[in-house]
Amino acid sequence: MNGFSISKYHDTAKIYEKIDRLMQLPIYSINKSAMEKYIIHFDTKCSQSNKIITKAKKRIPGGVQHNLAFNYPFPIVIEKADGAYLWDADGNQYIDFLQAGGPVMLGNNYAPVRNKVIEVINEVGPVTGLFHEYELKLAEEINRHMPSVEMFRMLGSGTESVMAAIRVARLATKRKKVIKMGGAYHGWSDQMVYGLHIPRTGGFEAHGIPGSCRKHTQEVYPNKIEALRKNLSRNRIKGGTAAVIVEPIGPESGTRPVDEDYNSQIRELCDERDVLLLFDEVVSFGRIGLAGAQGYFGVKPDLTIFGKVVAGGYPGAGGLGGRRDLMEHLAAGIEGGKKRAYVGGTLSANPMSSAAGYYTIQEIEKTNACEKAGRAADLLTKGLNEFIDEMSLPFAAYNQGAICHLETAGAMFVKLNYLKIRAVLREINARKHAMEEIGAAYMAERIVTLAGSRMYTSMADTDEVIEDALSRFRNVFANIEPKSEL
Ligand SMILES: Cc1ncc(COP(=O)(O)O)c(C=O)c1O
Repeated sequence: MNGFSISKYHDTAKIYEKIDRLMQLPIYSINKSAMEKYIIHFDTKCSQSNKIITKAKKRIPGGVQHNLAFNYPFPIVIEKADGAYLWDADGNQYIDFLQAGGPVMLGNNYAPVRNKVIEVINEVGPVTGLFHEYELKLAEEINRHMPSVEMFRMLGSGTESVMAAIRVARLATKRKKVIKMGGAYHGWSDQMVYGLHIPRTGGFEAHGIPGSCRKHTQEVYPNKIEALRKNLSRNRIKGGTAAVIVEPIGPESGTRPVDEDYNSQIRELCDERDVLLLFDEVVSFGRIGLAGAQGYFGVKPDLTIFGKVVAGGYPGAGGLGGRRDLMEHLAAGIEGGKKRAYVGGTLSANPMSSAAGYYTIQEIEKTNACEKAGRAADLLTKGLNEFIDEMSLPFAAYNQGAICHLETAGAMFVKLNYLKIRAVLREINARKHAMEEIGAAYMAERIVTLAGSRMYTSMADTDEVIEDALSRFRNVFANIEPKSEL
């Protein structure tokens, strides 16, 4: 027992080989007659959801408030969650591989944590604005598992925590440039909506954000250490780099996988150039292990960004931790004159979120949840790859512990060519549509995925649950055919 969900590191080159092949073939999607049946399924079996969402569209933009929610043919309304399952407003039961986008490791609505949270709320309510001992308990618990986190400050979300990390890095180094990996998502702050999903896209998605906000944000191609080295060198003559920020498992929760020694190479480079290394462990903390991806790779960042599991699936999931000398820049209070990295949040570090995080960490450790969830994802990946081979489909299934990727449409792997931008946009849209159709088919087979291409597993995913899920995936795969030549 080592507490990590990764049992064996993937073969990065082999995954890219498969993805490259996928991108050279026609787009595969659900055949016409099966898609018609799936749409009839939604119309007949999900009428309650349809009714609620039709009304919601009048009051809520797009009728849904989560970017990762399924919108095709219409979003499903969830009324109940327990263990590996979700139930919709029509009473349909789903196997849940969305896991709220990552924070759920113990299974949905896990009673031992819920009961503790209710106890805390009964006693003190959700928030007082003053200190509660659970804040200290959570900080101590994180430090016990992740020694690089000498100090910890809890914040409201991963997005806020990335903002705080960059602010501290700039204050501490007195430099401005921040380098991220192309395609990585680090929340939606003005400076980080840059190079999203697809490398080299820069401010492509930064609508409503002035260019000046991303003036000091740069992206380098992931898993290419020389690209980072060159960028750092270039920056030297332009005032230097404050920090390199990476998701250690690779951009987009490892959708773009990285080599096992990539993080240690980045660490070396940052040390050589006296640049701070920020690990975004919003997804990986508590999912790869309680020691985080940094524990798995044996690489110590200067600052670690938290989210999701840090509040056990409860609201208020964010935090920043790391070297004492850097974290001191975040000292709270109303003391004037001191140079500090300004952060805040009315509801940050409330007793409910702190207690939820504290008990979640304890339960994950006690139950060995990361290893269990990793085993489930290993089984799922193995089963998917067996079907893929058996049915001669050009898809790629791979996992980093309890994060499983199933690339069927390759929407995030489209190669950019600014000279042929219309063709590129057409391809992205066609691949997104295929992803949407396949995602809808999974949903009709009662499997909830993240955007039709990612599955987060939890401790609740027993062998039986995975077997059941695999037979549903098989049903979908049986309806897939090559659809378009690009
Ligand atoms: C790697 C990573 N960083 C940051 C964030 C932003 O976190 P939040 O949604 O809590 O703002 C996310 C969210 O999915 C994420 O995956």
